[in-house]
Amino acid sequence: MAVLSKYCPEIEITLVDINEQKIKLWNSPNPEDFPVFEEGLSQLILNNRGKNLFFSTEIESTIKNSDMVFISVNTPTKTSGFGAGYASDLKWVEHSARQVANYSQGHTIVVEKSTVPVKTAELIKKILVAEEKIEKNINTKSFSIVSSPEFLAEGTAISDLENPDRVLIGGDDEKALNILGDIYKRWIPENKILFTNLWSSELSKLTANAFLAQRISSINSISALCEKTGAKIFEVANVIGSDRRIGDKFLSPSPGFGGSCFQKDILNLVYLSRFYGLEPVADYWEQVLILNNWQRKRISKIVVEKLFGTVTEKKIAILGFSFKSNTNDTRESSALYIANDLMENGANVFIHDPKVSDFEIENAFRNFKFSKNNLSSWTSCENIIEAINMADAIIILTEWNEYKSIDWEKIAKLMRKPGWVFDTRNIINDLNSIKKNGINFWSLGCGDN
Ligand code: UGA
Repeated sequence: MAVLSKYCPEIEITLVDINEQKIKLWNSPNPEDFPVFEEGLSQLILNNRGKNLFFSTEIESTIKNSDMVFISVNTPTKTSGFGAGYASDLKWVEHSARQVANYSQGHTIVVEKSTVPVKTAELIKKILVAEEKIEKNINTKSFSIVSSPEFLAEGTAISDLENPDRVLIGGDDEKALNILGDIYKRWIPENKILFTNLWSSELSKLTANAFLAQRISSINSISALCEKTGAKIFEVANVIGSDRRIGDKFLSPSPGFGGSCFQKDILNLVYLSRFYGLEPVADYWEQVLILNNWQRKRISKIVVEKLFGTVTEKKIAILGFSFKSNTNDTRESSALYIANDLMENGANVFIHDPKVSDFEIENAFRNFKFSKNNLSSWTSCENIIEAINMADAIIILTEWNEYKSIDWEKIAKLMRKPGWVFDTRNIINDLNSIKKNGINFWSLGCGDN
């Protein structure tokens, strides 16, 4: 919406949320308070807030005055009931649709922006249509439903929105599709705006994420094989990526993909396939997740093995806690799983991340059903030195730029000997400085160097 406010100065955009605290933070004069860190976002908000971009908790009047409503609420994986562990919980989508049904006036275009299982638009439609009113042949309340899933990635959100590969708009009401299409046309070339039916739109979103995640599981599976055989994963990735049919994007091996989307969307795909009796399809996609979880565990096990089979009361530095660089988002971050494994084995974990605060780490562990006083301990560190001083091991889990320029000559000297550096993102080049200071080095897809 911040990007939209930049390109459409005459459109008034209001973001509403039931969470008052969140809205208060978005309205803060200090951009450091904004709940989401994303390159370029603060500036956009500061430029447009109060002009055509507003943050509010006034849900009723905002819906009443709107011609178009985007439903952009979260759709977490269900933790209980039918489909628990697989299906998305649509309670917030349903709740929002009911609010739109109740408060809207005149004709309203409802855009489903949350990532949802296929056929959710139908649910929204049923709720809205039940409230449609036609009095004396004049529509006093009517709706068009459009699906327009988002393809931005965190960390590059603003540039992805300004220059997307495509924008997807699905539905059967041509007029509504064109109204939304015309908004995007202000800054996106027409040939990048794709129109489909509702179900294709919803399924395309799940499929795009499943394919992306599948590539990561594929390269991660090969990283394990490289370590066993002496092949180097970055060489293999480079060779296969130079085949234009395969392409060189999304071939970086990692400690497992994280983030709020890949796992959830694949679980949805698996659930949907099972629902339609397509067991082999469900099993095929589920394997992407099984491999991802295995990769996380595999890394935890390697760390324990290398440290003489025990990490009890050892100090382990974790560099990077967000699920990827340039974001403070920790949802489903592999760092959470790996830190948890190590703590379960008795390690004292010292976490550094340039953007994830102490409070956010605490929250992430709480959501993970893990508390600060449980098992062994974790400590959040203000700087890298605090995290690595006298550490038995350093594990790099997020590819932050700041870790690419670490002075290993200096850092290696501060570790307890014989220490280990584990690079799960393949960002360290300066092996000599590490090794000549008596520190061992292991990297993902290359093994012991
Ligand atoms: C992903 C998709 O890339 C977006 O297109 C989509 O819109 C978004 O989900 C969504 O559904 O909202 P996001 O999760 O923000 O975006 O970030 P990605 O760049 O896809 O990274 C996801 C995870 O995969 C990260 O943990 C990252 O480290 C990992 N990854 C990525 C790898 O392990 N290797 C790679 O080569 C690329």
